[in-house]
Amino acid sequence: MGKAFGAVAGVGAVASLVAMKKTWDPLPSVKAAGFTTLDMSIYPEGQLITEKWRGKPIFVLKKTAAMIAKQTESQKARDIVVGDSHFMIAIGLCTHLGCIPAYIPAEESFLCACHGGMFNWAGEVTKVPPPRAFDIPPFKIEGTSLVLGEVGPEYKAMKDSGITL
Ligand code: FES
Repeated sequence: MGKAFGAVAGVGAVASLVAMKKTWDPLPSVKAAGFTTLDMSIYPEGQLITEKWRGKPIFVLKKTAAMIAKQTESQKARDIVVGDSHFMIAIGLCTHLGCIPAYIPAEESFLCACHGGMFNWAGEVTKVPPPRAFDIPPFKIEGTSLVLGEVGPEYKAMKDSGITL
């Protein structure tokens, strides 16, 4: 009788632990809103890929050798370097009123159809009305991966120097 009671109590305890864990676990929507890890080794050069983080489009453009060679100092300062690769990574929303600009590979530019704003391949404004360059999401470099949503030293330096909001 004692053993049977112990077994039932044990099953009950496990069931309550499972129920409690379910309560502690973040909702799926909260999980999705957290961190996104990108494997930076898979991106092709010169091609814009749009990822998603916290419901926002994230532009990822691995720069070609020609792009890297012609960069100005301000463009270099916006580079996210993972291993030997240089990337433009930005929140893909126009800093004017939040439309999603389209990338035009032949011009290496982004055009925002809403009010005609333009950005270059480094994310800088080349035609107003956008008031500033694309914002860069918080990121942390971990080997060949990039964790969006975490603040690493490279992102902190960009934020402190006013490269991104
Ligand atoms: S929202 Fe892009 S130019 Fe106005």
